[in-house]
Amino acid sequence: MCDEDCAPRRDSSLLPNQERLAGFVSVPGCSADALLPVGMLLSLSHNRRPLQTIPRRADPYAAAPRLPDDEVLDLPRLMGTDHPIELEVGPGRGGFILERLQNDPAVVIVGLEIRRKWATIVDKKIDGLGYSSRGRVFAEDAKPALARFAPRTVCRIYVHFPDPWWKKRHHKRLVVSPDFASLAAAALVPGGELFVQTDVPDRADAYERVLSEHSAFEAWPSGARVEDPQFGARSPRERRAIADGLPIVRLRFRRRASGE
Ligand SMILES: C[S@@+](CC[C@H](N)C(=O)[O-])C[C@H]1O[C@@H](n2cnc3c(N)ncnc32)[C@H](O)[C@@H]1O
Repeated sequence: MCDEDCAPRRDSSLLPNQERLAGFVSVPGCSADALLPVGMLLSLSHNRRPLQTIPRRADPYAAAPRLPDDEVLDLPRLMGTDHPIELEVGPGRGGFILERLQNDPAVVIVGLEIRRKWATIVDKKIDGLGYSSRGRVFAEDAKPALARFAPRTVCRIYVHFPDPWWKKRHHKRLVVSPDFASLAAAALVPGGELFVQTDVPDRADAYERVLSEHSAFEAWPSGARVEDPQFGARSPRERRAIADGLPIVRLRFRRRASGE
């Protein structure tokens, strides 16, 4: 392979005449067979620094907090409690989880955030405020993580303003789906809650349909769309939607005693 010293020269007049073949030039220092088309030579010559010498920045979130590798995750045990815990899917910048911890000293809550950056920052903030025995955020994709949860270990699942994907080809990333409903149903205790809110009307309709059609859930306390349940905390997107005067659809479902 060529190193920096053999980077192709831009000015072909610098090359010996015999190396200037029709449309091709040889690369000095390389094997005599290394002939490059002139176009390629010119484009390469604009970027004289070989890629391997560009210093790569260390990933500042490489050590993001992760869940243990266990096949079955007993989150209450991990958090040092015998009681079912709360779960927030996609806490983002963490406003909800932080306020929930601040405003209710009995709450034990875990967040699963796919973005390592936010999981790291929010988990650190929780620790800095002295709540790490009651709250954590892990850098995880919620669906595979939920699939490992021990059954009936979660009392409430919050999904605030999920799914910022608008292109059809990204729809497979949508969090709230029939699969997710089944995973949530398995993790929740009977009578446990699934709360979903959004300011996107089409998404609200789709979520309502998915959850209403799932045998494990029933709208609660009466009808899926509820007034602000006042959990004593708001998510960052919820605050923004309120400030912008956007209507928010809030969906509340309860895990039935039966159903999968
Ligand atoms: C539109 S933001 C809303 C953030 C926050 N819930 C709020 O209301 O302000 C959606 C969040 O969900 C996270 N997210 C998306 N897919 C996820 C997944 N499969 N597992 C965990 N988090 C996910 C995104 O990284 C992002 O932080």
